[in-house]
Amino acid sequence: MSSADAAGFDDLWDALLPIGRDPASGGYHRLGWQSADLTCREWFTEQAGRRGMDLECDRNGNLWAWRNPAAAGGAVVTGSHLDSVPDGGAYDGALGVVSAFAALDALAERGATPECPVAVVAFAEEEGARFGVPCLGSRLLTGALRPAAARALRDAEGVSFDEAARGAGVDPHALGAEPDRVARIRAFVELHVEQGRGLVHTGHAVGIGRGIRPHGRWRLEFRGAADHAGTTALADRHDPMLGFAQAVLDVRHAAARHGVVATIGRVNVRPNATNVIPAAVTAFLDVRGGEEEVVRSVLAEVIGRAERHGARDHVQVELVEESWSPAVSFPADAVARLQVALGPVPVLACGAGHDAGALAAAGVSSAMLFVRNPSGVSHAPGEHADHADCLAGVAALADAIAALGA
Ligand code: GLV
Ligand code: MN
Ligand code: MN
Repeated sequence: MSSADAAGFDDLWDALLPIGRDPASGGYHRLGWQSADLTCREWFTEQAGRRGMDLECDRNGNLWAWRNPAAAGGAVVTGSHLDSVPDGGAYDGALGVVSAFAALDALAERGATPECPVAVVAFAEEEGARFGVPCLGSRLLTGALRPAAARALRDAEGVSFDEAARGAGVDPHALGAEPDRVARIRAFVELHVEQGRGLVHTGHAVGIGRGIRPHGRWRLEFRGAADHAGTTALADRHDPMLGFAQAVLDVRHAAARHGVVATIGRVNVRPNATNVIPAAVTAFLDVRGGEEEVVRSVLAEVIGRAERHGARDHVQVELVEESWSPAVSFPADAVARLQVALGPVPVLACGAGHDAGALAAAGVSSAMLFVRNPSGVSHAPGEHADHADCLAGVAALADAIAALGA
């Protein structure tokens, strides 16, 4: 990369870096359509304007910045997301959007912008950290999520999806699949910080994605009865905390036995008071693995045991699916084109979900590039990629866009 390309990346990155940063932890709070995310979206708008790109917010709140929008042929699209998990890292999503603008700048600098339409996209609410459904913007776009299902969602503070959408300038009555927009994409490539250590010992700064493992999110509801912590005999309690505690260990043991990963990372307790036996506990469960049936077996085991414990404790138990993301293999020809463009770089399977997966599931020719992460840590303040590796990522993305647009 030239020093001008590096300076361009730094300008983009440095302008985004302070937004939503918690000075105490160093992590980021850019929950979808909350104030920091809205500021990131303003940053996107400003970057598109500076480059003379046409800005569009689609029906589902995804932002698109177009170069050559009226040119003939299918579009090459690149980008990622700007929202984060609570106290997340700086790179997840943001690196893909920054690198997308930087790669287009690098191509323009060398007079190699493809003649076809090219867009940078920032998908809305990718993490699902606010409304629970990951890749919400890309799922709505492709029709994998019905508008009515999105509109029924509420965040942890009880804010409705409709209200949040309106706050972001998105009309909740206009949500819905956009088949023409999807069909217009001839190729999508998403660059992302690696969220593991697959590249660390390879000597490569950049790898290509092979596919995404199947994953889903569920809610485990334990409903008992509130009562006095001091006066209710143990035998008389309907305490949902007991079954919940056992479920945490059951999830862990079932995952280990079946060779998948499973996490309870969020819990709500009602009424959440020290001297009240809880009325209800809601546990949010994330399970991911190599095979869809194995993920389903883990769930069956967990709910079976929870129901047995519930019967013992006089507690009702229910498992509710919040989202399901099937296994995705990026199309072999898309992977092959990146391999030709980038040479012999590692090809990695991925345990994290991405908008590229949602688009691939809808039949879009999609691919991913991963940038080395020395610690592998992600969804936490320690997430990192070295500057030189970020620049290598921009160079690789520029080559990928040129190849896909040729
Ligand atoms: C998104 O990053 C996910 O995989 O949860
Ligand atoms: Mn991401
Ligand atoms: Mn993420």
